[in-house]
Amino acid sequence: MAENARSSEGPYLRLTGIAKSFGRFQALHGIDLAIERGELVTFLGPSGCGKTTLLRIVAGLEAQDWGTIVQDGRDISRLPAIRRDYGIVFQSYALFPNLTIHANVAYGLVNRRKGRSEIERRVAELLKLVGLPDSGAKYPGQLSGGQQQRIALARALASAPGLLLLDEPLSALDALERLRLRGEIRALQQRLGVTTILVTHDQEEALSMADRIVVMNAGRIEQVGSPRAVYETPATPFAADFIGKINVLPGVAAGRDRVRVGGRALLLARNDLIEGSAVKLYLRPEDVVVHRDPATGQGAANTLAAQVAKVEFLGAFCVLGLAPEGTDFPALSANVPRHAVDAGGLEPGAHIAITLPPAALRILG
Ligand SMILES: Nc1ncnc2c1ncn2[C@@H]1O[C@H](COP(=O)(O)OP(=O)(O)O)[C@@H](O)[C@H]1O
Ligand SMILES: [Mg+2]
Repeated sequence: MAENARSSEGPYLRLTGIAKSFGRFQALHGIDLAIERGELVTFLGPSGCGKTTLLRIVAGLEAQDWGTIVQDGRDISRLPAIRRDYGIVFQSYALFPNLTIHANVAYGLVNRRKGRSEIERRVAELLKLVGLPDSGAKYPGQLSGGQQQRIALARALASAPGLLLLDEPLSALDALERLRLRGEIRALQQRLGVTTILVTHDQEEALSMADRIVVMNAGRIEQVGSPRAVYETPATPFAADFIGKINVLPGVAAGRDRVRVGGRALLLARNDLIEGSAVKLYLRPEDVVVHRDPATGQGAANTLAAQVAKVEFLGAFCVLGLAPEGTDFPALSANVPRHAVDAGGLEPGAHIAITLPPAALRILG
């Protein structure tokens, strides 16, 4: 069939210069993005940054003011939603409450005038795929939230679309269901190889599920990268702060490779700084090296005395609130394994030493 002809070159989906205003409010400022075939990409950002608007534009449920969308080699920029090739799942389950699960999943297939036996086969296959093979005769109200989202997923996949669009599909679920469905959706997506966009404001969801994360802020893309890249080398202060926790140390460059912070000169793993310029250093809490013995490394580069101000227990690890001593160095947090705290010497009030590794001290944006 011609409409299933695949162009093997270039990305599966390409957005170019997508802009959108609502009245005088500009929700999207010239978004450029390419998504490869089979990728799961997340749009991650705070509420109101434009994630849903961008997804709805891809779906043809909202019209962009500017810009083009090319899907599988075809310009779909002005194509009505009904003629585009995607399945979509929203945060609210959006199943038809008065139809059985079977009828819900079959809905799109009936509309496409598929034959009865083909529909039966496909619905059975889809219900099995989402792990609810015996639910066909039930009504949505008889299913849990997580089960309803699995059915919504089955319905979205019914026509074997080239693109799967998911708008915060897990946000309405309780923590346990969310975790379980996260893994299920990712496994299913990989098994089917369907190109997928997942909108979320949950950094953990994005980190655990995505091939690539698109970090969005106020209608713009801040960074695009693998979960690891976005976490380890955030491109901007916003990206660093939104994904994971990070210490911010304001200072002044005291040479090409050092920054003065609260009376201490810290060495950096770069030598392109302009002496006298104001800089902010960023440091992940897990990159702070904690020495129980305050005498450790005294006088060594980037090592300072500190007092433990508080210990926050987070299950798998603990967060130490640290007050560096003897200077007006800002307070900072360090993550340490739970067993390190159990071993003693890190209680509130304890005097310790910390090292801020040069390679972990970053200047962003
Ligand atoms: N139909 C609309 N009319 C007016 N403003 C809108 C409309 N849809 C979205 N917006 C505004 O556009 C911005 C982005 O919204 P949205 O894309 O829903 O954000 P997100 O999904 O990231 O939370 C928000 O400030 C929102 O209020
Ligand atoms: Mg939204």
